[in-house]
Amino acid sequence: MSETYTLYNSTVMDHFMHPRNMGDLKDADGVGEVGAAACGDIMKISLKIKDGKIEDARFKTFGCGSAIASSSMATELIKGRSIDEAMNFTNQEVVDALGGLPPVKIHCSVLAEEALKAALEDYIRKHPETASKLQTPVPAAA
Ligand code: FES
Repeated sequence: MSETYTLYNSTVMDHFMHPRNMGDLKDADGVGEVGAAACGDIMKISLKIKDGKIEDARFKTFGCGSAIASSSMATELIKGRSIDEAMNFTNQEVVDALGGLPPVKIHCSVLAEEALKAALEDYIRKHPETASKLQTPVPAAA
């Protein structure tokens, strides 16, 4: 029998076929949407934040299997983290937790990092009082 999925490992396939946390959050506290110029894929992450911690996270991804798996894993990893911890989140965590991605698909995990940070920045914009309590500098608004 031929191998159907040679590009992705079983963890990536699991998150692609059975994505966790897909959808929107009603009354989200922060929403970030980013696009990858190279491929045209789009990713949106919504966050519920309570007492300085990410209480819940959801995603909607219009993109490749690797982008769907990356956003599924990223939303799993960031739940329960403080805003500061989440601001320091990197795509490498997603890649490691997925057991690796093919080199040509690493940018899909970068999209998850960027969508998360855009959602955090949206939250901080809406709650400017939180910015002064953060250890991590918040990028200036565009
Ligand atoms: Fe564009 Fe995966 S190919 S995000």
